[in-house]
Amino acid sequence: MRGPCGSTVVICKLSPDQGGIRINKLSPDYGGYDREPFLAELYDLVPQYTGRGDLDFYVDLCRSAGGRVLELGCGTGRVLIPAAETGATAVGLDVSPQMLARCKDRLARQPEDVRSRVSLVQASMTDFELDGEFELVIIPFRPFQHLVQVDDQIACLKHVHAHLGVGGRLVFDVFQVNLDMITDPGIFEEREDMPEFELPDGRKLRRCDRHVATHRSEQYNEIEIIYYITDTTGETRRLVHAFPLRYFFRYELEHMLARCGFHVVDVFGDFDRSPLDDKSPEMIFIAEKEPS
Ligand SMILES: C[S@@+](CC[C@H](N)C(=O)[O-])C[C@H]1O[C@@H](n2cnc3c(N)ncnc32)[C@H](O)[C@@H]1O
Repeated sequence: MRGPCGSTVVICKLSPDQGGIRINKLSPDYGGYDREPFLAELYDLVPQYTGRGDLDFYVDLCRSAGGRVLELGCGTGRVLIPAAETGATAVGLDVSPQMLARCKDRLARQPEDVRSRVSLVQASMTDFELDGEFELVIIPFRPFQHLVQVDDQIACLKHVHAHLGVGGRLVFDVFQVNLDMITDPGIFEEREDMPEFELPDGRKLRRCDRHVATHRSEQYNEIEIIYYITDTTGETRRLVHAFPLRYFFRYELEHMLARCGFHVVDVFGDFDRSPLDDKSPEMIFIAEKEPS
């Protein structure tokens, strides 16, 4: 539809049966990691997270950064702590006090030299001010996709830009959209993505996921990750991690990075550094700060 000045007006109509909520009415809860305590508690026990194939890629970058590293959305320290173990001096920033509390506990169990190289900051990656410059900023495992709104994505990139030295690099990953998958009606069905296994305390954990709604014009999906926890008496609880997740296209991000003062050095399709192609699961951006 054309607006009064010839501009395009996007009218987003959401069907109530999709459970849709308009994006501009979403109050950010940053992926919902603080909404339910079970998320931070289980994060380091979920094989999809602990076994994710990105670790060597990010740890190698941090080790060879040649200066201070900042991880945005550091969570429980899955990448941050191994990076510090290899000698990197790193700041971990996350908005979730519960994820940071886990990170702090893990850090407390590290040798003194590792602990001394890490500091933790609670803030949103859309609005932070830290002392000193960084050589490398990383955003591993999709925190950028929790920034559903364009204003927040731009704010994040501008804050990263302000914290990097000239020539410093930003490296982050988002998934490459599988267009067959997002048009498959089966995504609305609950499907098991992690078979049941036993937790260290004897409880059993099984996990499923489903899409609740898709919003193509605004490029985000409403996702539920559903945890079934069976305690030692046999009682099962169903716990839901529900959040909106933004998806991006390659050139959208290349343009956005350019707009925020970055030059794209590489776009990989996976953590083995293979080039992005139609089948790549990931889009991994290596972007360098241009002088302001
Ligand atoms: C999937 S976890 C990834 C954690 C960690 N990077 C890893 O690789 O294991 C997403 C993290 O992003 C954090 N997050 C989401 N939105 C954020 C924001 N606006 N600012 C800072 N952290 C955010 C969440 O609290 C959560 O810890």
